[in-house]
Amino acid sequence: MTIDYSAAEALVREAGAMLLNASPAPETIHAKGGEANFVTDTDVKIQSFLFERLSALVPGAAFFGEEDTRGNTRGLSDGYTFIIDPIDGTTNFMFGYNFSCVSVGLAYGKRMLAGWVYNPYARTMMHAVRGEGAYLNGRRVYAGNRSVENGLIAFSCARYNDQHIDKLFDTVKALFYKSLSVRLGGSAAIDLSRVAAGSNTAYLEMLLQPYDYAAASLLIEEAGGVITQLDGSAITLDRPCSILAGTVQAHAQILSMWNGGR
Ligand code: IPD
Ligand code: CA
Ligand code: CA
Repeated sequence: MTIDYSAAEALVREAGAMLLNASPAPETIHAKGGEANFVTDTDVKIQSFLFERLSALVPGAAFFGEEDTRGNTRGLSDGYTFIIDPIDGTTNFMFGYNFSCVSVGLAYGKRMLAGWVYNPYARTMMHAVRGEGAYLNGRRVYAGNRSVENGLIAFSCARYNDQHIDKLFDTVKALFYKSLSVRLGGSAAIDLSRVAAGSNTAYLEMLLQPYDYAAASLLIEEAGGVITQLDGSAITLDRPCSILAGTVQAHAQILSMWNGGR
């Protein structure tokens, strides 16, 4: 099947405009399971929009999105699957942080084919198609190969996933002293895509869902960076996993720190 990637990108941009123009009024915010975990009416609206419009673009594709909307498979199919986070950075959206994005990946089986991460506040569209490189607003980007010592290290964690939190903060403290500084943006997809663009030298988080990292994982690979789980094993697109992404050099350094080296 020939897929119109520019049409898909236009839809992601439209979804971003919906996010930009939405206001998170208190009555539109609802608690989800676990600590400090929320969904807003805008998350659901954007996911439904993407489902409807992307279905027309790739007939028969499955949808693995974060929210409970019509047609959501919450898993991969053997054929095409759109892996969607309608708003990555929902808490940021609720608090007016202007640091959230729409993340859309397209997989065939368990292999990513294309990905888009669009931050409408900064108007940054990052996209990649397998084998064609990673792009930021149409300009080719590379992860580069900075070491931890010469870079910014981003991380995140969520109240609803706080197992092994001490190990994460101990590692982040060590990284704070070893690197130029550490960052926590509150949108894993944006911070991961910034690894692809070379602004973040590495990113780590103990547990993420496929829709948080699917699109960004292809951006990172196409930009010459590395993305694995924290133990170095391959990331999973059909179930949650930990994430360690970075330049080749920084990834190896943090892998060794996390797994008992220095
Ligand atoms: C969350 C954000 C956050 C990360 C969490 C994610 P959401 O996604 O990416 O930065 O720390 O683990 O769940 O809930 O805003 O889509
Ligand atoms: Ca997310
Ligand atoms: Ca989300």
